[in-house]
Amino acid sequence: MFSRTVKSANSRLSQLSSQLSPQVKLSQIRTMATQHTHCKLNTGAQIPAIGFGTWQDADAQEAAVTEALKAGYIHIDTARIYGTEPAVGRAIKKSGIPREKLFITTKLWNNSHHPDDVMPALEASLKDLDTPYVDLYLMHWPSPFARSDTLMPKDSNGKIQPGEADYVDTWKAMEATLKSGKTKAIGISNFSKAEVERLLNETSVVPAAHQLELHPWLQQHDFVEWNKSKDIHVTQYSPFGNQNEIYSSGQHLGKLIDDETLVEVGKKYGKNGAQTALAWGIAHGHSVLPKSKTPSRIRENLEGDFTLSEEDVKKLDGIDKKMRFNDPSRSFGWEFYKDLEGKK
Ligand SMILES: NC(=O)c1ccc[n+]([C@@H]2O[C@H](COP(=O)([O-])OP(=O)(O)OC[C@H]3O[C@@H](n4cnc5c(N)ncnc54)[C@H](OP(=O)(O)O)[C@@H]3O)[C@@H](O)[C@H]2O)c1
Repeated sequence: MFSRTVKSANSRLSQLSSQLSPQVKLSQIRTMATQHTHCKLNTGAQIPAIGFGTWQDADAQEAAVTEALKAGYIHIDTARIYGTEPAVGRAIKKSGIPREKLFITTKLWNNSHHPDDVMPALEASLKDLDTPYVDLYLMHWPSPFARSDTLMPKDSNGKIQPGEADYVDTWKAMEATLKSGKTKAIGISNFSKAEVERLLNETSVVPAAHQLELHPWLQQHDFVEWNKSKDIHVTQYSPFGNQNEIYSSGQHLGKLIDDETLVEVGKKYGKNGAQTALAWGIAHGHSVLPKSKTPSRIRENLEGDFTLSEEDVKKLDGIDKKMRFNDPSRSFGWEFYKDLEGKK
């Protein structure tokens, strides 16, 4: 399920570095030798281990995705609710990169869970992305909202109106999108273990990927291994944990990317805490989705695709805090993650 298509072992880099002038920094050589780790989905397709996140800063996303594509990202993650599909589409078009060289993920939003709404919702996403297909289409959450043209249907008290569609029926409608060729793979996001189990028992296509909050402070070891045992690829969102400023919990902890152990391990490889957090996920066979609108960070995050020693991976396995930052249960009217770590 997990392969490194370009190997650039650190020992080789050190060797190379000793043969070059001291003016050439090790970090520059690493840039020249960026790995492009890929993982295999249960469809047989390859998913690049680093993907570019596009949640938030919608107005900055066309420039950010343009910068990301220029830097060498070939995997872009968006969603209907982010409002960033048009920006992603424009950036891809401008880049001139052939569609088949890219891996694009988008997500079905909660207002379109009724089976009759799934294909039209996908088609609207494809239109905005200006592409005939997506490589991966995810059910963003198991929770349905009321059928509506607005993304966040609310009652007169400002409360989100729940819908009635059962996520099993929504999934069956997603299965039909595979037959149309408009999706190459389908998957899920933010499901509990019991919710995934129900899908596996009651439908015929095993999700190709599960996108979930995962980082060195929320490792969910058992759940991750369980997903893998079912042939479901794990993709990490919010790979920098509470670096996303929207997350209000755990502020007293400081920032994940400044974690002492993370920073100390990274130093050995000439990497910072953010890059090391990404490498930890990749070492476990996951895809990781760093988001940034800052050109220098966009470039440096791609350098998070490097190989940590087994010993260092173990060290980082030891910094788990079971700290979950994203839980909209109250506003969505659905109790998420009931059987998972970090649930408060
Ligand atoms: N399926 C889901 O429900 C779900 C939920 C959350 C996220 N996601 C996906 O996962 C992606 C990533 O998650 P995320 O956006 O929550 O957070 P993230 O990528 O973990 O963190 C983003 C934050 O970190 C900052 N940052 C980026 N690189 C940095 C670096 N090298 N050093 C210091 N700060 C850095 C960014 O700032 P600047 O932008 O200002 O540089 C931004 O504030 C999303 O964009 C989205 O595509 C999916």
